[in-house]
Amino acid sequence: MKLIPVSPHRKISSSDLFVLIVEKGGDPKLPPEIAIPSAVTKGFGGDAREMRLTDAIKGPAKRVLLVGAGNGTMDTDIFRRCGALIAKKAEKIGAESVTVGYALNGHENALGLGQALAEGLVMGSYQLEDFKSDRNKASLKRVRIGCEGDFKKGVVRGRIIGEANCLARRLQDTPANLMRPRDLVEEARAIAAGSDQVKLKVFDEKAMGRMKMGSLISVSRGSEEPAFLIHLVYRPKKKSRAKACFVGKGLTFDAGGISLKPSAKMHEMKYDMSGGAAVLGAMAAVADLKPDVEVHVLVPTSENLPDGKANKPGDLVTAMNGITIEILNTDAEGRLILADALAYAEKTIKPDSMIDLATLTGAVVVGLGHEYSGATGNDDSLVDALVGAGKRCGELVWPLPIHPQHEKDMKGSVGDLQNISGPATGAGSSTGGAFLKNFVGDVPWVHLDIAGSAWGAADRDYQGGASGTGVGVRLLLEYVESL
Ligand code: BES
Ligand code: ZN
Ligand code: ZN
Repeated sequence: MKLIPVSPHRKISSSDLFVLIVEKGGDPKLPPEIAIPSAVTKGFGGDAREMRLTDAIKGPAKRVLLVGAGNGTMDTDIFRRCGALIAKKAEKIGAESVTVGYALNGHENALGLGQALAEGLVMGSYQLEDFKSDRNKASLKRVRIGCEGDFKKGVVRGRIIGEANCLARRLQDTPANLMRPRDLVEEARAIAAGSDQVKLKVFDEKAMGRMKMGSLISVSRGSEEPAFLIHLVYRPKKKSRAKACFVGKGLTFDAGGISLKPSAKMHEMKYDMSGGAAVLGAMAAVADLKPDVEVHVLVPTSENLPDGKANKPGDLVTAMNGITIEILNTDAEGRLILADALAYAEKTIKPDSMIDLATLTGAVVVGLGHEYSGATGNDDSLVDALVGAGKRCGELVWPLPIHPQHEKDMKGSVGDLQNISGPATGAGSSTGGAFLKNFVGDVPWVHLDIAGSAWGAADRDYQGGASGTGVGVRLLLEYVESL
C-alpha cells in the first residue's frame, strides 16, 4: 500500500472511498463536492472507533466512511487505531484507492497526530505474508491524505515508521526454515544497500572465532546453520549529537538445545529473533529519517538445536572479554549470544548508550504479560528515558530491578558466571539482566526483555492478535528522536 500526502487545497481526486475523521461531538462536515444521505451524518457521535459506511450520492468517491476519533486529539493511540480501522475497512470492501479528508490543520500536536494516523494506516494494512496457495492479494493500493504543515511532516514520518514496523513483523512471522541466520544477514544487506549512509559488516563463525567470541559461537554448534554477527552502522551527514547502539537477539529458532523445550508451543520459538527484527526495522527507518545521531545495530544470530555437537549442560565457554561461563541450561542461550555482541560493542563501538532487545525469559511473561517490555539496566536515567519514550509511543516499558543478590545468583562455581541461577532464586528476568551486565563495562545500558510484548499481545487494530507486534521499532525511534 502506498501512502501519499496530497495538498488539501487541490481538487479531491477520484477514489473508491472517501474517509472523514470526526472527533467526539464534532460536526461531520464533508467537502462541498461530496454528498451522502443526511441520515448517515445525523446522530454520528464521533466516539472512538465508531464507523459508518455509505454510498455517495455525488462526488469523486464511490463510498464514504465516517470514522470517530473520540478525544483522539488528546491521545495519539486513538488516531493510530483510526488509521488501522480505515485500512482494514478499505480492504474489507475491496477498495483500491482511499482518500482521507483533511482533518487537523493547526492543532498543537499536528505532527504527532499525523504520525499516528499514518502509522495506523500502514500497520493496519499489514498482512501476514500468506504462504497459502490460494491467497487473496491485498486490494488496497493507494491512500491519499490531504495534509500540510506539521501534520504532513507527521504523515511522512509515520509512513516510514509504520513500514519499519511491518518489516520487523514480516521477519518475525516468516517461518524459521525461511528466516534462518543467513536470511537475516540478507535482510541486513538489503537495508544497507538502500542507503549510502548505512554500512554493513558481517562476521561469520571463523571471524567470530578469531575475535574469541566463544560464547556466541557455542550456541550454533548444534545446528547445520552457521551463526553470524551482523553490524550495521548509520552515520549522519551533519555532526552527530550522540552515538547509540541497539543490539537484538536473533535466535531464528530456539528448540532449547540439549535442554530441549516441551513440544507444546515450541513452534512459537520462530519468534525468538524478535529483538533482531526490531533493531533491523529501526535501522531501516533511521536510514530514511536521517537523524543527527550515529546509530549502530548489532544482531547476533543463530539457531539453538540439539545435536551431537551441541552445547551440553555443564560445558564451559569463554566470551570475548575473557569471562568464563558455565552453561547449566542450554536453553538460556539468548544471553550467551548477547554476551559477545555486547562485549564487542563495548570494546569496538564505545557507544554513549546501549539498548538490547531480547525475547530472553518466560519469566517476564509471567511478571508483566504481553503489554509491557521489562527493562533492567545499569543506568536509571536511561531506563527512565525508555519508560518515557514508551509512554509517548504506546510501546510500554516497565522497570525491573537488578539487586546485588541477582548478580550474586549468576556467579559460577566452575566458571566466573553460570548461565542460569539456582532453582529457588526466582526473578528470572532480573537475573537474566544481571548476567548481561557483566558484558557492557561502563556503557550506560538497558536490557529490554520483550518475550511477552513481541507477540501474543491484545488486538489494538494496528497490531496484536495472530502476528508478531514488531515491538521495539517505534520505541527505539522515539528514543532516537529524544536524543
Ligand atoms: N527464548 C526463550 C525465552 C522465551 C520463553 C520467550 C517463552 C518467549 C516465550 C529463552 O531462550 C529461554 O528459553 N529462556 C529460559 C531461561 C531459563 C532456562 C533460565 C526460560 O525462560 O525458560
Ligand atoms: Zn532458550
Ligand atoms: Zn531463546
